[in-house]
Amino acid sequence: MGSALEGKVAVITGGASGIGRATAVRFAQEGADIVLGDLADGTETVRLVEKLERQAVFVRTDTTREADCNALVAAAVAEFGRVDVGVASAGIATAAGMSNVETRAAGGDATHVVNIDTDAFRKVLDVNVLGVMMTDRALARQMLAQAAAARSSTSPPAQRRSPSRARRRTACPRPASGCSPRSWRWSWPPPGSG
Ligand SMILES: NC(=O)c1ccc[n+]([C@@H]2O[C@H](COP(=O)([O-])OP(=O)(O)OC[C@H]3O[C@@H](n4cnc5c(N)ncnc54)[C@H](O)[C@@H]3O)[C@@H](O)[C@H]2O)c1
Repeated sequence: MGSALEGKVAVITGGASGIGRATAVRFAQEGADIVLGDLADGTETVRLVEKLERQAVFVRTDTTREADCNALVAAAVAEFGRVDVGVASAGIATAAGMSNVETRAAGGDATHVVNIDTDAFRKVLDVNVLGVMMTDRALARQMLAQAAAARSSTSPPAQRRSPSRARRRTACPRPASGCSPRSWRWSWPPPGSG
């Protein structure tokens, strides 16, 4: 059986380094094409993905900017026609660690909880919380639009739909049998419905 990522399109923020880059390379090994968003230059990650004979696009993105998050997803759709997977990996770390508490506090360590600057901490929240939310929101809106388009293109004409089937289609009581919220896949009619 092939990989679940074969032929999929993945949007990855923070893809210029660290976890984001490692994810991009691993996904490419599994057969995915990659759209990278990062403040930093992503061309090395693009090179690594292309070496695996998958396509990659880098979009300069500041995930604390709503317009950038939306533009990243729009770029993926413009390039590949859809988005299948999203990974919000852009992040920064300045939070205080709990090791060597006295030493670090006494030494004036700016990341120690007693010294941390309010604006610096606000930046952490902006990138690690708000940025992730805005990335995920842009991805979810696109995926829902794709799911709606897939439903309308696979749905039978209204006059041929029996009431019981129409109810099943709306309520979808057993996700595994008709639609999968996880993958946004839709099949009609639901398996086993005759
Ligand atoms: N590596 C770990 O073991 C580990 C463990 C726990 C949590 N984390 C957290 O996960 C996140 C990613 O970790 P990493 O090791 O990959 O870090 P990293 O610094 O290697 O990569 C983070 C990437 O995010 C990008 N980035 C930062 N702010 C951005 C913004 N506003 N818009 C777009 N891109 C932005 C950076 O340019 C960088 O390429 C960080 O928040 C980190 O604190 C990492």
